[in-house]
Amino acid sequence: MSGTKIDGLAVAQAVKERVKKAASEIKSQGVNPCLATVLVGDSQASATYVKNKQKACAEVGITTKDHHLQDSISQKELNSLVDSLNNDKTVHGILVQLPLPDQINEFEVVSRILPTKDVDGLTPHNAGLLAMGKAVLKACTPSGIMELFDYYKIDLAGKNIVMINRSNLIGKPLYHMLLEKNATVTTCHSKTKNLADFTKSADVIITAVGDRTKFTLKQDMIKNGAIVIDVAITRHNGKLAGDCDYDDIIKKASFATPVPGGVGPITVAMLLKNTVTAASLSKGLGS
Ligand code: GUN
Repeated sequence: MSGTKIDGLAVAQAVKERVKKAASEIKSQGVNPCLATVLVGDSQASATYVKNKQKACAEVGITTKDHHLQDSISQKELNSLVDSLNNDKTVHGILVQLPLPDQINEFEVVSRILPTKDVDGLTPHNAGLLAMGKAVLKACTPSGIMELFDYYKIDLAGKNIVMINRSNLIGKPLYHMLLEKNATVTTCHSKTKNLADFTKSADVIITAVGDRTKFTLKQDMIKNGAIVIDVAITRHNGKLAGDCDYDDIIKKASFATPVPGGVGPITVAMLLKNTVTAASLSKGLGS
């Protein structure tokens, strides 16, 4: 048996087409959707992610304002950049690429972003609303994963879902989204004992570890017909890879995401969607 590939590029394209239409509609009402990106330091990976996000914005008619700051920036300087973007009426979304350098308190920076411009859905306000099932702007990677389930008509009600991640960016917001869909969700992490006991009984496994020296999800750790969502992006044997080898896992899974071409593209598409939503909010146009 070989399962179905979850084609993140195709799903992302469908979302982008909807976003492009929505962007053009709000432009005709006098709002020019604009995302401010903030990149700190010289990380090649972060620079690539930000560049991809800017390129995707251009494809759907969203303007970007690029802020690239030195690694040595102080907390005060970064805070005041966020304040000025909050006050800039031409900016609708603010994306501060994470991680930030050690001298910066990430929580302080993220918490400063106006909730209505928080296109990453990471502020305490929006994270709290998500926990209560009321968020409008939701974290991009988790909402992208939900979009994949939707597109492939995968009903999550009653499913036993095991996540291997507990971060603010992925595991925690995703937990709430899965619960909203009536799944039974278990959150595993680096201190979980006998991880394979959890994965072997899961209907759906969502894995986001990103270090193949520590963890690989192998065929013998999943049950027949399991659905595997691989969120990790790392390098393995000189190539981009996730937490599992797609060609190996798809022989036993009913659905699985490849890396690259799975969760990555849909994450960017959800950022575009959030930016147009934020632009609509700025005019009181709703979402
Ligand atoms: N770093 C890795 N993923 C993300 C993301 O989704 N948003 C931000 N702001 N930083 C990230």
